[in-house]
Parts: sequence; structure tokens; C-alpha cells
Amino acid sequence: MKTTVVKGNVHWVGYVDWDVRDFHGYATSRGSTYNSYLIIDKDIAIIDSVKAPYSEYLLDNIRSLVSLDEVKYVICNHAEPDHSGSLPVLMEKCKNAVLVCNEKCKSALSMHYDTKLWIFKIVDDTSTLSLGENTLKFINTPMVHWPESMATFLPEKKILFSMDGFGQHYASSGRFDYEENLIVVLQEAKKYYANIVMLYGKQIKVVLDKALHIDIDMIAPSHGVIWKEHIAEIVERYNRWIECKPAPKVVIFFDTMWKSTSLMADAIYEGALLDGVTVRKFDLKYTDLTTVATETLDAAAIAVGTPTLNKSLMPKVAEALTYLKGLAPVGKSAIAFGSYGWAKKSGQHDVLEILKQMNCNILLEEPVQSQYVPTPEVLAKCREAGKLLAEVALKHKK
Ligand code: FEO
Repeated sequence: MKTTVVKGNVHWVGYVDWDVRDFHGYATSRGSTYNSYLIIDKDIAIIDSVKAPYSEYLLDNIRSLVSLDEVKYVICNHAEPDHSGSLPVLMEKCKNAVLVCNEKCKSALSMHYDTKLWIFKIVDDTSTLSLGENTLKFINTPMVHWPESMATFLPEKKILFSMDGFGQHYASSGRFDYEENLIVVLQEAKKYYANIVMLYGKQIKVVLDKALHIDIDMIAPSHGVIWKEHIAEIVERYNRWIECKPAPKVVIFFDTMWKSTSLMADAIYEGALLDGVTVRKFDLKYTDLTTVATETLDAAAIAVGTPTLNKSLMPKVAEALTYLKGLAPVGKSAIAFGSYGWAKKSGQHDVLEILKQMNCNILLEEPVQSQYVPTPEVLAKCREAGKLLAEVALKHKK
């Protein structure tokens, strides 16, 4: 694999994973990268590693530029295995290296790997590590994405190594934002935010304020492209996503058994088609949860549908709601809908209960229901419900 000059004596030495399609449940349809950076100075430092299976690629990349014996510091910003997985090999091969991380990270690493022989240097927000011409500073960024996460700043080059923050699961030949299609990269950054860090919006705001208080020319995350020419765009997006600010948008997602709930979803969709409102409709049989979560991030209103199955809801709807509940989107108005055969008080009511637990603003205290196949009257009610969702969403028009 080819290394890339990031700036001066800072090099990208990571791994582009074109094949990964699942990242702990996240559908990585465009693959990913595990970015590792090498700083060549009087003292040589590596910032983060790659997933364990790609250790040899990382070592070869480093060897193409320096001898492994020359590496003085290995900085670990985050203990999650996609970035720390190669540390055991790296620490074994870089015989003179010291592992630099914060106290919580040291503890987390020791619960993942045999670290007994590693020499640690513990750093925090007040630490500075001189490499010669360059110095490294550290910014604790708890919960972006684990409690031990931190970012590393290289003031002489004005590069913020931001770890998961500002990342994208996006495999590409270009290492920089200006080399790739910006619309696609921003979409992948949004997907990443919605599915990985949305739960920690408040913490991210603190981190963002802290990190962006410094003079930055580049944001080098641990996944995806390096932000260089479009820093303003990604920062503006992050500020918007952190607020989970609703747009005039309605998202309908559902599963269906014999098409009755699907017919109801179609009618809700029709009713929601008001001027100025974006509407998305997802049958969960055909749409992955990653997409549903991404589209829900900025939706003002959602409609969730299930037929009643075994006095409960369909498994795919349960899965989607469990996933969304975990991500804790805020400020959503919602309704429940779907068909039943004989158990009127389950299925759709179960959905309603979960929507309440998610602190959604429930627009209809009773779900929109159909016994078996929806009649014209039921479909008319669905269209009315769709209109109601759209009218609520329209209140968020700028
Ligand atoms: Fe990319 Fe939280 O690891």
C-alpha cells in the first residue's frame, strides 16, 4: 500500500479497507480506512494503528520510510480495536517505542492486550511532547467515541488528529477532501455521525469548542479523508448535527406481513407530500438500519409501522427501534401505525410505548390501525396522519 505525505514530514501510513461491509452493525457500503500517521523528526512518532489483520501493511508502510527501531513514540488516541488492534505487533517490532496515551486508555488497553512489557508515557490536556522541530499536544475528548478517547494536535503543522471525530467510513484512493466528491464525503460523514457519535452530542459540542479554539489547517481523522479545503463545511455540519436540528422532513419506516402495513405506509407517504417537505419511506426488509438512522438524524417527524405478530411487533421493527433508541435522537415528533388481526392492543401499541421511551412528541395518542387489509376509510386516516406529520415538519422550515 502507498504512503502519502500529509504535510512536510507527516505521512499517512494507514490501511484502506475496500471490503469491509459491516462495522459492529454499521453498514459500511463504501468501505473504510484506518488512518495511521507517521511523524519523522529527531524523535519519530506514530499516531494510532490499524485493525489487527492489517498489521503487516502498517509495518511495511512504516518500514518504507524509517526503520522500526527508530520509532520513539506510539501515540494511542483511542483503545477501540479498529485503531489499537495492531499495537501488540507494533510494540513488539518497534523495540524502542514508548506507548503514549492517557490514564484511561492505558487501563482500557490492558484489558484488551497483554501490555505488561509495554513502557507507557501518560499524558493529559496539559502535556506537551517534543519530537524535535515538532511538538505534540493532547486534548482529552471523552465519549468521542469511548471514555478514554483523545485527539492529538501538532501546532507547528496546525494538524488536529481528531480520532473518530470528523471521520467517515469511506474507502478512497484520495487521502484529502479535495481529491474526492465532497457531496459523497459529507454524506458519509453524516452517516458516521448519526450511527457512531449521535448519542454523545453534548460531549461532542464540548470537544468541538475545545478543539476548534486552536489554529487548525487540517483535521486528520482516523477514518476517511483528511479535511483540508473543506474544514468550514464539516465544522458547520457538525454544529448542526450536534443540535440534532430538525429539518422539514418526514421519515416513515415499517415492516409488513401481507402488505396491509405497506399499503398504510404508502398512504401516509402520500399524505405527507406537502410542498417544502422531504419524505423518505423505508421498508425495513430492503433498507439497512444505518440508512434509517442517518435519515432520521435531521427528520422532524417519524412514522413507525408494524403488523402485529405473536401479540408483539415484527422483529425488524423491534431491531430498528432498539437501534434508534440507543442512538437517542432528540426532538422527533412521531406516530405509530400498522395492521392487526385480532390483538388490537399489541403490536402498534408496543411501538407507541417505545416511541414514548425515546421521548418523542407523540402526535396521535392512539396508533393508526387497520384490522387486516386497510379499507378506504383507514387509508384516508393514514393520509391525514401523513399530512399531520408534514405540517409539524413544516414548522421547522427556515
Ligand atoms: Fe474508529 Fe471508536 O473507533
